[in-house]
Amino acid sequence: MALPPYPASPFPVERTAIVTGAASPRGIGRATADRLASRGWSVVVLDLDPAASSAVAAELQQLHGVPCLGLGVDISDRPGVRDAVATVVAELPQLVALVNNAGVSSPVPFLEVSEQEWRRVVDVNLHGTFHVTQEAARVMASHRLGRIVNVSSASAQRGGGVYGRAAYSASKAALLGLARTLARELGPHGVTANSVSPGSIDTDIMGGPLTDERKEFLLRELPVGRIGTVQDVAAVIAFLVSEDAGYLTGVTYDVNGGSHIA
Ligand SMILES: NC(=O)c1ccc[n+]([C@@H]2O[C@H](COP(=O)([O-])OP(=O)(O)OC[C@H]3O[C@@H](n4cnc5c(N)ncnc54)[C@H](O)[C@@H]3O)[C@@H](O)[C@H]2O)c1
Repeated sequence: MALPPYPASPFPVERTAIVTGAASPRGIGRATADRLASRGWSVVVLDLDPAASSAVAAELQQLHGVPCLGLGVDISDRPGVRDAVATVVAELPQLVALVNNAGVSSPVPFLEVSEQEWRRVVDVNLHGTFHVTQEAARVMASHRLGRIVNVSSASAQRGGGVYGRAAYSASKAALLGLARTLARELGPHGVTANSVSPGSIDTDIMGGPLTDERKEFLLRELPVGRIGTVQDVAAVIAFLVSEDAGYLTGVTYDVNGGSHIA
């Protein structure tokens, strides 16, 4: 008996991934961009500072021999995002993957958080992700192939993190719901959507590098006995955007060393 046609198109050899928030030197996005470029992806480093984004893209291109592009874009600015995605389509191979990694945190307790602070966080983490995802997903759907990964946070699942409070957790929880909905809506267009949910990773987002005291505190909650690294997260994202991950969609991957076991 003949099987129904598989909806997605074949995975192209030359393909592009957009990684938002990939210019931070010690960040998850930078590590993800590097890993993807090492696997043959053309990578778009999309971050606030144009010079920093271009510098990272130039470094990746030189290191891995794939065309890369750095763009200075605030993801909460829709026209800027639209132009950026148009540039990617015009200048690089087929857009196949989007990693929604850019984000800001907020340590303000709920009873004290101002509307301005709330909006600052939601504008980037949720609205920014909406802008980039809609622009990129339209391109992916037109090719009947795509991979979307949202970077959420264990903070969304366990009710606040070690640093991020209500605005951050709420915006990161929204990303889990968004990815699940995209999985249903975009599946018929050949596009998968998943989330990674990191626990505490030693980057600068928690107000600077972790002190020994904070590390000791975190280690008490970690069955694997070490703090997470950006490579721990990048490895899972690289798998989720790969050709092999085509049957995974609507899933949340906890990358937390067992600090939160659902
Ligand atoms: N480090 C952790 O412990 C941890 C845990 C869970 C989730 N996360 C998530 O991982 C992602 C990466 O964080 P990180 O730890 O690497 O921090 P980071 O601060 O090093 O990286 C965040 C990046 O996002 C960029 N960015 C911020 N606002 C932007 C905007 N409006 N437009 C474009 N780019 C913008 C920043 O410039 C920066 O390069 C974030 O979404 C964060 O919430 C981090």
